Amino acid sequence: MTSTSRLSGLRDLPVADRRRRIQDSTGVGPEALAALDPAHGLQVEQADHLIENVIGVMGIPVGLATNFTINGRDVLIPMATEEASVVAAASNAARIARVLGGFHTSSTEPLMQAQIQVLDVVDPEGGRARLLESRQEIIDLANEQDPILVRFGGGVRDLLVRLVPSPVQTYVVAHLVVDVRDAMGANAVNTMAEAVATRVGEIAGGRPLLRILTNKADRRITRARAVFDAESLGGPQVVDDLVHAGALAQADPYRAATHNKGIMNGISAVVLATGNDTRAVEAGAHSHAIGPDGRYTSLSRFEKDADGNLVGFLELPMPVGLVGGATKAHPVARSALAILGVGTAQELADVVVATGLAQNLAAMRALATEGIQRGHMSLHARNIAVTAGATGDEVPQVVARLISDKAIRAEHAQQVLAELRSAR
Ligand code: MEV
Repeated sequence: MTSTSRLSGLRDLPVADRRRRIQDSTGVGPEALAALDPAHGLQVEQADHLIENVIGVMGIPVGLATNFTINGRDVLIPMATEEASVVAAASNAARIARVLGGFHTSSTEPLMQAQIQVLDVVDPEGGRARLLESRQEIIDLANEQDPILVRFGGGVRDLLVRLVPSPVQTYVVAHLVVDVRDAMGANAVNTMAEAVATRVGEIAGGRPLLRILTNKADRRITRARAVFDAESLGGPQVVDDLVHAGALAQADPYRAATHNKGIMNGISAVVLATGNDTRAVEAGAHSHAIGPDGRYTSLSRFEKDADGNLVGFLELPMPVGLVGGATKAHPVARSALAILGVGTAQELADVVVATGLAQNLAAMRALATEGIQRGHMSLHARNIAVTAGATGDEVPQVVARLISDKAIRAEHAQQVLAELRSAR
């Protein structure tokens, strides 16, 4: 249980001291955090069991987002991202959100669906009806595939059957709706779909073809809401401008894509840090960004409340798990989950969506005020300084010069660094 997510001054500490602050705040021991050091992180031999033809591992920075309160609980959020300013921006928005109570979430049950496509059904309406009449038989057959999931309270909840007209023919498509509990669920539902496909084909009177989950996980939705204090945002004008920023994203697909990218900056970073499937979450997000009128739109909404504060709301499918996949097999994912202290996949989903909302608000606020380039350029200057070879206290000195000289370029960084060193 995290005592507080307000770790002020964290960014000024060396990495080892930051880890100690995490230990103090979360009670997570040094052994659980050891994997955050590449020497003890994912080893090539372990990676060799995760994918094929392994030739190495790739390092991505893991940063800690601070200041988050989610459903009344303080939480420190590990984020894996190569993009500068993402972690700082999320922490900044979370600091503003906590003034009025932080983030609040709600969710559906963790229901995933698998599809079984049936071809060549002479009477598709009849095929659909026959399948629905055999609902219990198909559900029982599917549940037999995963007695452990059933024992933990999960299992098939429903059988749906859709008729999907296509340019080639009308397919009968059966859906198994499965409560996957704390798993992401792909393995569970795919196994079930493959196991029942032959019988589904027989009953429908056609040939089963594709048997796979749908990443349009629209029955596994998590929503996050936060009220952002007007004064901390910068005043009433900023609130109004943020409502305009949100409205443009809602109305215009060109803006919506960028707005949603900002949301995914937060979401994918937490999903990756916890060893979950970033592509599954991203595919679900894309599918959810189509509004009722069939147009691509923003995943979040913003409005002003009666007190003049900004209310932000984000909703999307969140198929993440705590068991299976790389969540257990990847040592860094285990560390990240220990820091988060989440006990269920649902709590992890809450954290992911709250981070997405924070990230979105932070980007919008930067865009609606000073623009993002100033913040980006100072972080970019840091990268240039480090790439030029600056270390330790040389980094801030080189960065300061690059910014004051308005020349954030590699050769200038090298020159400044050489001057600095010769002056010592
Ligand atoms: C950059 O990674 C993300 C932003 O473009 C998001 C946005 O425009 O809202 C800043």
